[in-house]
Amino acid sequence: MIKKLTLSAIAAVGLLAGAANAAGGETHIEDFDFSFEGPFGKFDQNQLQRGLKVYTEICSGCHGLQYVPLRTLHDEGGVGLPEDQMIAYAAGIDIYDPEIDDYRSGKPTDNFPANTAAGAPDLSLMAKARAGFSGPLGTGMNQLFKGMGGAEYIASILTGYTGHEKVEAGVTLYENSAFPGGWISMAPPLYGEDVDFDDHHDNSLHHESMDTAAFLMWAAEPKMMARKETGFIGVFILIVLSVLLYATNKTLWAPVKRKAKES
Ligand code: HEC
Repeated sequence: MIKKLTLSAIAAVGLLAGAANAAGGETHIEDFDFSFEGPFGKFDQNQLQRGLKVYTEICSGCHGLQYVPLRTLHDEGGVGLPEDQMIAYAAGIDIYDPEIDDYRSGKPTDNFPANTAAGAPDLSLMAKARAGFSGPLGTGMNQLFKGMGGAEYIASILTGYTGHEKVEAGVTLYENSAFPGGWISMAPPLYGEDVDFDDHHDNSLHHESMDTAAFLMWAAEPKMMARKETGFIGVFILIVLSVLLYATNKTLWAPVKRKAKES
């Protein structure tokens, strides 16, 4: 019985994995190597700072990050800007303040501004929203089986332009191998060498895309490291508890067993 159940469970998982692969057939998501993958993965602070630069200089022209507080740029384990740089960054952003019905310079207590002018979606949670790409019904099978998530999806979108475009109902669409349906209305935002990094770090399309995707992963899940740590503590406590339960069980039943042996 148990054997049968196990076999059917394995078959079901196999089927789901197959479906995940089949559904992923039409779009191509590349498996990038991010520092934050795996149980011990961590955000790479320099990479997040480079991603912030790309976001600020390029993406923020169309996209907003309205759920991300500017002060979190100073948080440890993330972008980790020194406090004065975070304050200076905030001050460099124009924030619309409804109280004065005008724009003023940003403060650490403000969030990144929203931006929907070009019909572009907010990117605050995009890396999490798209984590289930190409799994059947968005079940996130790819994340489970291949360790690929929203960051891979975003980097693949940025590098996935084929160079073909078409106009449909007055809208220019660009062919993109990672975008579901194959045609996206976002013009290629990056070509490589779009920004200069301080330390002359590689600013090829591949690296800029990865840096931006990593930054957006942090924006969507700034506490990823803390979540992993909590997980480890949880598992550790469960192991200790299991050992204790086993020992208690042995001790409690010892007299009964002894009696049974004697009689
Ligand atoms: C010129 C305006 C513009 C710029 C600049 C721009 N985008 Fe977009 N972006 C758009 C529009 C419009 C869409 C909606 C596309 C669609 O749904 O067809 C979009 C969609 C997206 C999506 C969502 C894809 C999805 O699955 O729905 C991501 C991710 C994205 N952009 C990332 C970026 C990043 C990262 C940058 C900076 C490197 C950037 N964009 C720069 C206009 C822009």
